[in-house]
Amino acid sequence: MTQRTLVLLKPDAVGRGLVGEIVGRFERKAGWTIRALELRTLDRGILEQHYAEHVGRPFYEPLMGFMSGGPVVALVVEGERVIEGVRRLAGPTDPIEAAPGSVRGDFGTITRENLIHASDSEESAARELKLFFPSL
Ligand code: CMP
Repeated sequence: MTQRTLVLLKPDAVGRGLVGEIVGRFERKAGWTIRALELRTLDRGILEQHYAEHVGRPFYEPLMGFMSGGPVVALVVEGERVIEGVRRLAGPTDPIEAAPGSVRGDFGTITRENLIHASDSEESAARELKLFFPSL
């Protein structure tokens, strides 16, 4: 089942020079392709839409500050079961819980600065792809 997913390499990943390392992991998965890739700084407007489900949570405002505080790399990855696959490559939200071998398990320590966002379902992927890459 070929799918597309929206991935964000968060400002910590870009700032620490981990873009090549992380994108390389997607490229090395058999049959997965990068369909779009862009370095951009996210404003509050797009972040409010992207994180609408988290409004009111204690981590919401610090998350907005972190995510708008430096450029991200937004990319579209396409391939076999890529939505589930990228989530597994990323690891769970808390990097200390994340297994070694996953992006968060290999490089992260704190929950907010967990390096990567990946769509969590077909519905989220459709919504997020439209938000970040409306022309695709
Ligand atoms: P992600 O799962 O990509 O999307 C929501 C983000 O909010 C999450 O990554 C973290 O960056 C952040 N986040 C979620 N839960 C917490 C938390 N308990 N404390 C701090 N940040 C959080």
